[in-house]
Amino acid sequence: EKDGFPSFMEKEIHDQPEAVAATLLGRSDLEGKLTLDEMRIDADVLKTINKIIVLACGTSAYAGQVAKYAIEHWCRIPTEVELSHEFRYRDPIVDDKTLIVSLSQSGETMDTLMAVRYAREQGAKTIAICNTNGSTIPRESDAVLYTHAGPEIAVASTKAFLAQITAAYLLGLYLAQLRGNLFQGQIKDVLADLAKVPAKIAQVLANDGQIKELARSMADTRSVLFLGRHVGFPVAMEGALKLKELAYIHAEGFAAGELKHGPIALIEEGQPVIVVVPSPRGRDSLHAKVVSNIQEVRARGAKTIVIAEEGDESVRAHAEHVFYIPETTALLAPLLTTVPLQIFACELATAKGYDVDQPRNLAKSVTVE
Ligand code: M6R
Repeated sequence: EKDGFPSFMEKEIHDQPEAVAATLLGRSDLEGKLTLDEMRIDADVLKTINKIIVLACGTSAYAGQVAKYAIEHWCRIPTEVELSHEFRYRDPIVDDKTLIVSLSQSGETMDTLMAVRYAREQGAKTIAICNTNGSTIPRESDAVLYTHAGPEIAVASTKAFLAQITAAYLLGLYLAQLRGNLFQGQIKDVLADLAKVPAKIAQVLANDGQIKELARSMADTRSVLFLGRHVGFPVAMEGALKLKELAYIHAEGFAAGELKHGPIALIEEGQPVIVVVPSPRGRDSLHAKVVSNIQEVRARGAKTIVIAEEGDESVRAHAEHVFYIPETTALLAPLLTTVPLQIFACELATAKGYDVDQPRNLAKSVTVE
């Protein structure tokens, strides 16, 4: 069932074009009208929602952090992302105008289940974005939006992450449609861009030779830092988590803008820093800011490894290694930039001789609090 791949993780990384495509399938028509069948919450209720809280753990929480950028941008609804296990213990402000969106691959994560239960008791409406049919979290929620990534066997989450971002984006577009925040043409454009993502992921996968080679050459590395900005920030944290859990290497993801507020003190000769660079085509100056962060860490001896958009030549002069991903919009970039980071962690762990499907000390679903 590994389809000829040496591990489930590698198979699941390669399943990603299909996982995103299947999650998009049948949820919109040619005019860009979204129909989310399992959205059993009344449209009138969804129109009165004044706050969204996304609840999740681990990789699913990083998907939530990516989604926050899109949901706030499209729907203009204040959106918080909280680790499920922190949520209940801070006396959160939740009422019948709060929409809870839980993200869980397994649908059985006890921390997330308990947080959803708590929110429901406070009168909130709950939507589960979940990859496992009939699991507990969707059963205990008002509505469910299934990710159709197919079963994920490897402990480290890969295809579920991309499918969660896709589903959360569909939810954001659905709410924007319902509440009139976006014109139909704008929604149609985003859906058209999303439809092109699976082929672009396939392109990244087809060009994995260079990143694998780099990963193998770094098997003795003791620490790797990841930097990103805007949606690239949660991607950086996800890249770091993959490396920790698979290769048992100290890894940390930072918001690039935070560097000078402390983390830059960590940089010494030879420290590898992987930077997720935003598109230079963006309207704001984020690209230039991240490029200057690369220069700052390099000037202090860092070995810089860059994930950038095809055609972005400006990064070459400042990086030991550049990996290019196909062009897309700023909000959709995480569906592509994450992939080389998954391949990197998987290949590096394999080079160290570790079992990437069953990392030490971890379970696929964490069913205790
Ligand atoms: O099944 P869930 O999505 O609720 O699981 C959440 C986390 O336990 C999970 O994402 C974990 O962090 C993975 N090992 C990450 O690769």
